[in-house]
Amino acid sequence: MLQIGRGPDLGDRMEMAHSVEGLVPFMDHHVAEYLQNVPVSLKIRDVTEKYILGDLSATGSSAPDPHVADDDRRSHANFRPPHYFSGDDRDIALGARSTPPLPFAMQLRPFRLERYYDTREFTAPYMLSASDCESWTVAELAALDSGATDRLLALPLGYTHSTGHPELRERIATTYDHVQPDDIIVHAGAQEAVFTFMTAALAPGDHVIVHHPAYQSLAEIPRALGCSVTPWTTSATHDWALDVDALHRAINPRTRAIVINCPHSPTGSLPSATTLDAIVAVAREHGLLIFSDEVYRGLEYDERDRLSAVADLYERGVSLGVMSKAYGLAGLRIGWLAVRDRALAQRVREVKDYTTICSSAPSECLATIALEHGRAIVQRNVGIICDNLARFRAFLEVRPGRFAWVPPRAGPVAFVSPVGVRDIERYCDAALARAGVLLLPGTVFDESSTAMRVGFGRRSFPEALERYAQFVDEE
Ligand SMILES: Cc1ncc(COP(=O)(O)O)c(C=O)c1O
Repeated sequence: MLQIGRGPDLGDRMEMAHSVEGLVPFMDHHVAEYLQNVPVSLKIRDVTEKYILGDLSATGSSAPDPHVADDDRRSHANFRPPHYFSGDDRDIALGARSTPPLPFAMQLRPFRLERYYDTREFTAPYMLSASDCESWTVAELAALDSGATDRLLALPLGYTHSTGHPELRERIATTYDHVQPDDIIVHAGAQEAVFTFMTAALAPGDHVIVHHPAYQSLAEIPRALGCSVTPWTTSATHDWALDVDALHRAINPRTRAIVINCPHSPTGSLPSATTLDAIVAVAREHGLLIFSDEVYRGLEYDERDRLSAVADLYERGVSLGVMSKAYGLAGLRIGWLAVRDRALAQRVREVKDYTTICSSAPSECLATIALEHGRAIVQRNVGIICDNLARFRAFLEVRPGRFAWVPPRAGPVAFVSPVGVRDIERYCDAALARAGVLLLPGTVFDESSTAMRVGFGRRSFPEALERYAQFVDEE
């Protein structure tokens, strides 16, 4: 039996037990690192080395055990929480039938983009940085389909299928080539799907390579889960291109997943099919997962540039889709994962049971109707983006040397640098204060950025651009 504390009397043991317990929420993601820096008593160190570090090896933070199948080794189902106490000690310290905590407390840092918009998005008079497309009203959507109103009004408002209504999953699957309805797991927007995938697929100590700059959750959630994250850095100097040689160099024995976002936010960049094939080849060679954020797929300005979904290309590829961006229906909060790996899909479902359980029935119904007319909706949105981009090019042409950018190839956003501006946050604050125009400072993606995100997906763009032009010309 494990002895904790200095003496045999119950009071000491409870006190010491409480202090071990109390450490848990403060532990950083690498318990080993933590222990090196924090003075703990030898006894506690013994306990943690034996139990916590012992358990970490089972989750991939030390050399993989060749006798354990890869999927099992990674599975959270196989993850054994450390036993700080055993037998009677545990019962005494924590109360009978209590469960010891996991050794990690997720420490999510604030989501910079969301915090920025939180106080500005719905009060700024002129939105010039939106990442979605022009939205639709319920009436507009219903008008697309003669039976839509009846379908909506007859809808029972009970719980829905936890993986998504079968009709919706069937519709979503038609947007892929090799993905079946059962491979689709519907979520509350893309954000929830990022969370469930990362939680299901990754374990503390895993290494993940993440497209950078990118939507913060793609790197932040793995980091908070205790993974080490290598940014796969792209730059304007290299047209925001993904460098496959750099990917090769970033891989180490603990690498578990590659995370990409194509078409990309905030730059609007899009790799070639050859580059995507090369990324898949690297993943296949090393047995890695690819998590591919494809929320802007469908918004290529030239349809011939559209890439295959990663879930279609690669059996261990997971594609993220959503109604928010290409379809302009963010308020539905319907997103999904396309996962062909059965074991992984099952783990995602198990995690999702702890988040939203299931989606909203009216949202599922409206999303199904929208997808039935998906092509028309997306074409309208690409039309709006291309018109607005033409206006923006004209704006730049009459202000030569004032801005630098790599023109986007897909999606509703671009990353634009006002030349000579060093503090982009201050610049964006000034545009909002003086002209009522809401831009998004690139620092929400990368602290050293001097660029801002401009969004082309809204019909109000011309008016917002006009106001911004006045601000620029008065500068
Ligand atoms: C690249 C990317 N992925 C995921 C999301 C999350 O999408 P949603 O708001 O639909 O959850 C966003 C939202 O801005 C995004 O830009």
